[in-house]
Amino acid sequence: GASESEAIAELAKRRGFFFGAAGAYGGVGGFYTYGPQGASLKRNVEDAWRERFAVQEGNLEIDGPTVMPEPVFEASGHLDGFDDMLVECPECGESHRADHLIEDSTGIEEAESLPIPEVEELIAEHDLACPNCGAPLAGEPVEEFNLMFDTTIGPGSSTPGYLRPETAQGIFVEFPRLKEYARNRLPFGVTQIGRAYRNEISPRKSLVRTREFTQAELEQFIDPERDEPDLSTVADREVELYPASEQVDDDGKILQTTIGEAVEAGVIGSAWVGYFLGVADEWYESVGVDMDRFRFRQHLSGERAHYAADCWDAEAEVDGDWIEIAGFAYRGDYDLSKHAEHANDDFTVFQQYDEPKVVERAVVDPDMSVLGPEFGGAAAGVADALQELAERDPEAFDGEEVTVEVGDSEYSVPTAVADFRIEEQTESGKHVTPHVVEPSFGVDRTVYTLVAHAMREDEVDGETRTYLDLSPTVAPTDVGVFPLVSNVDDLTDRARELASQLRNAGFTVVYDDSGSIGRRYRRQDEVGTPFCVTVDRDGLEGDGPESVTVRERDSAAQARVPVDALVAVLVDLRAG
Ligand code: GAP
Repeated sequence: GASESEAIAELAKRRGFFFGAAGAYGGVGGFYTYGPQGASLKRNVEDAWRERFAVQEGNLEIDGPTVMPEPVFEASGHLDGFDDMLVECPECGESHRADHLIEDSTGIEEAESLPIPEVEELIAEHDLACPNCGAPLAGEPVEEFNLMFDTTIGPGSSTPGYLRPETAQGIFVEFPRLKEYARNRLPFGVTQIGRAYRNEISPRKSLVRTREFTQAELEQFIDPERDEPDLSTVADREVELYPASEQVDDDGKILQTTIGEAVEAGVIGSAWVGYFLGVADEWYESVGVDMDRFRFRQHLSGERAHYAADCWDAEAEVDGDWIEIAGFAYRGDYDLSKHAEHANDDFTVFQQYDEPKVVERAVVDPDMSVLGPEFGGAAAGVADALQELAERDPEAFDGEEVTVEVGDSEYSVPTAVADFRIEEQTESGKHVTPHVVEPSFGVDRTVYTLVAHAMREDEVDGETRTYLDLSPTVAPTDVGVFPLVSNVDDLTDRARELASQLRNAGFTVVYDDSGSIGRRYRRQDEVGTPFCVTVDRDGLEGDGPESVTVRERDSAAQARVPVDALVAVLVDLRAG
């Protein structure tokens, strides 16, 4: 039979979840269109994420542009460091990602983190060939390929811009304003859900590696010396962890532990990362990821992005492969420091102390006017250099003279003139460059995983049926509403009325009167609709109050429900 990924692709296209974009023009690799079912599923995933990571956490949400000017990505390091390794086939011209090629043909996973000459050696050593035409690739040069899509902003070509490769930078660049909205108090978090773009060398595995995708990101800004997360809500959560230390051997172990224990034991190095792994674990379960096919894996040191000091991935198993569906990086002060260096604004937060602190500070108070004319215009520079030296190396003032460099010249100043002393000063707080902890979710990969993990086959009325066991939280449609037969006006009119009443009550409803009732149930089963309501003559005309049947997807069981109670019954059923 078909593999799991083939079955997903077939269902996704036939029932309108997702399919390769612009098929009428031959299509283009790495771009997907979500059909009616997929667009609804994806929106529900985004809403569920927003509810948990923005609303419940009390975080801010922003919505920034997808194109930004070049200096942003000079500062962020993406212009220089956001590359993959490319090798081009000399025969057919097809480009391949060198590390994927090596991993696919030899099972060696660490090529991604090796220097280029070693990657070229591996290709030669294993006699790797072009997967497209079979030509040998040994001896071909491997090159760095920057993944950002470039463009020009406005007419002419003088203002280069880039499509953002992660939504995160849109949050970091606005930090000087965002901190004001957060009233200059750490910790606080900012979220953004939106498109990101990467010109992947070889897009693959359907929605898993595309060139345009949606991220849901949270940047948590903390004072690393002071702020601790409240772990109590997630400490007892049982998780599966695959730490880097276990990945060096082939028989590395997955640890079954709780978030609290893992943080305590230092397996998870940052309590903040631990907190978000716990929240994410709960969230993934709530939207319907099969937790038997889910784990957290720590990055090996060579695997980490240029900004990350530590990183854990959430991974889901699909079709025998573990795919990264989210990353939890400790970015430290990398990004804010870089932007502070490159931009003209304040990327720090002034942290008020609980009580003013008396601190000792080395200061100088030089009387430059007593020095000779050779100091001339350099006097101010010399004074600054003396102050800097006093703070850095007070012992330099122990002798008769102290020497400082300003520009290319050296100046010697008598220690008595510098007037070095230790003074007591009162400080009300200090400027802190916050550290960043970043849960970053791939929305498309989540959608893909949910469909994969929900696919079921069973037998109903002696026939094989396929259905999607999607959680009611994310299912594209809440309720299907049908007349039992489609050629009786009373029934179709009443079913249409009920559909519209349910829509008014907040449900997503599909009305369907085409084909046999069995086929209509199957259609809804296949797109994961949890409940179907059928209007029949018995219910309309029988004794007692008007009633309909409600059918539950997974069991295919039906129950008769009075129309008056329908909304309440469906609300209960949906809540589980
Ligand atoms: N801001 C951090 C960041 O961008 P990342 O690990 O490069 O980190 C985060 O990306 C998530 O975005 C990944 O875990 C994955 O789910 C998703 N993602 C990354 N590249 C993707 C691609 N080419 N296609 C689909 N999803 C992708």
